Amino acid sequence: MRAQSLVVACGALALCLALTGATNPGFVVRITQAGLDYAHQHAIAILEKELARLKLPDISGDFRFLGKVYYQISNLDLRTFHLPHSQISLVPNVGLQVSISNAFAELNGNWRVKYGLIRSSGSFNLKVENVYIRINLRLGSDSSGKPTVDTSSCSTRISKVRVRFLGKLSLVYNLFKKAVESRLRKALEGKVCDNVAKAVRNELQPYARTLPVTARIDSMTGIDYALVASPTATARSLDTGLKGEFFSLAHRATVPFPPLPLGLPPDHERMVYFGASSYFFNTASFAYHSAGALVFEISDSMIPGGADFRLNTSTFSAFIPQLETMYPKLPMKFRLSTRSAPFLSIGPGGFSLQPVVDVQAYAILPDATLAPLFLLSLTTNVSAVVDVTSGHIVGSLTVGRIKLSLKQSDVGAFQVRTLQSIMNIVASKILLPRVNARLGEGFPLPLPDRIQLSNILVRFHQNFLLLGADVQFQPQIGR
Ligand SMILES: *[C@@H]1O[C@H](CO)[C@@H](O)[C@H](O)[C@H]1NC(C)=O
Ligand SMILES: *[C@@H]1O[C@H](CO)[C@@H](O)[C@H](O)[C@H]1NC(C)=O
Repeated sequence: MRAQSLVVACGALALCLALTGATNPGFVVRITQAGLDYAHQHAIAILEKELARLKLPDISGDFRFLGKVYYQISNLDLRTFHLPHSQISLVPNVGLQVSISNAFAELNGNWRVKYGLIRSSGSFNLKVENVYIRINLRLGSDSSGKPTVDTSSCSTRISKVRVRFLGKLSLVYNLFKKAVESRLRKALEGKVCDNVAKAVRNELQPYARTLPVTARIDSMTGIDYALVASPTATARSLDTGLKGEFFSLAHRATVPFPPLPLGLPPDHERMVYFGASSYFFNTASFAYHSAGALVFEISDSMIPGGADFRLNTSTFSAFIPQLETMYPKLPMKFRLSTRSAPFLSIGPGGFSLQPVVDVQAYAILPDATLAPLFLLSLTTNVSAVVDVTSGHIVGSLTVGRIKLSLKQSDVGAFQVRTLQSIMNIVASKILLPRVNARLGEGFPLPLPDRIQLSNILVRFHQNFLLLGADVQFQPQIGR
């Protein structure tokens, strides 16, 4: 009974989403193991630098050897910290784990002992080997929808520490060698995780936050790439659902349709995949439409040089003879608009949309006022090719055959099909190049700083476009 009523309620998808509170992402970013491995290389290089900056406190103590021996270890200076073996792995439903094995470090310092009346000092060299570090990273999102990353746990184990004292009196040194080794090992074990947490907090987290969750695209629209939930680790990838919604900067309206569930295929050859749902593209259409950007005025000066007609009533009287008497020898203009935002669908064959464009023709009177002549409805099948350049989704549209119908005439009846070839030119030679120029500039993908994409793959699936790419990280100049 209850299940049935839920089914009824969920018949209206929007309502169901409202009831369950679930938000499907409009855009999904998937980082595969290959992508994690690539990111890991860079992260390890940063961690090595961070660990080499590790500061150890002075150590002092005493022990009994026929009397009290006091020792002090100071000026501990870590020279290098090498992390030659490490790997990053996905922990399904938890996060990421970085395991570092056989790391080694070398440090120098000074020692001083006091034993009765004997005082001695010198330097020493310490080799630390077989360092194991295990770091668990927890990924989340904050209230602004930005990704967060922090260290949920960290452990360090050092199994080999070798001190070499430089100086005389080796008997004395060897007496406190054991004590020093174990205290240095403990100090180091404690500090490594502090520095790991610091590197995550000071380097990784700020970097993750360079993901532009709201990007202004142009003077009219922006795009909302806020995370809709925390990133999810699966056995093969790290998936992040983003809102993926365009909006008008002047007036952000509630989108009247919900995003559909988006199931990425199990591809994993590329480092990253982006799933851009039909919702994503339709909110673009909706935003540009709400911003008034889908209105095009076409005047005589826009008619391409090669066309053998001008946009004036003399030209059109050949098809609408009554124009010759009603509006003789006047320039004309067209106003192209869409009643509602064009809605596109995505299937395995690509994009398809059938926009319905209103074409209002005017005569321009000598006092510059516009006299409406006729209103045509123009429909066509539009297809699109898509690519990625410079981190932007770019596109280009082609229009099929154009169908015209007369919606209204202020100049009496006429044969609409006689306008076919002129409207073909208007659509394909004037309108389309303008739309394609904009689509050629593209729309930014959600990428953090200094990422370049290569090896682009474009595939269409039911309800979404899948883009795959490999990533290249551009090191910051001057660091
Ligand atoms: C109007 O169009 C006709 C033919 O297309 C052209 O010969 C004529 O010069 C145009 N008139 C003006 C004022 O541009
Ligand atoms: C668009 O394509 C569909 C199916 O391919 C066809 O039925 C329809 O007539 C086409 N519309 C136009 C305006 O060409």
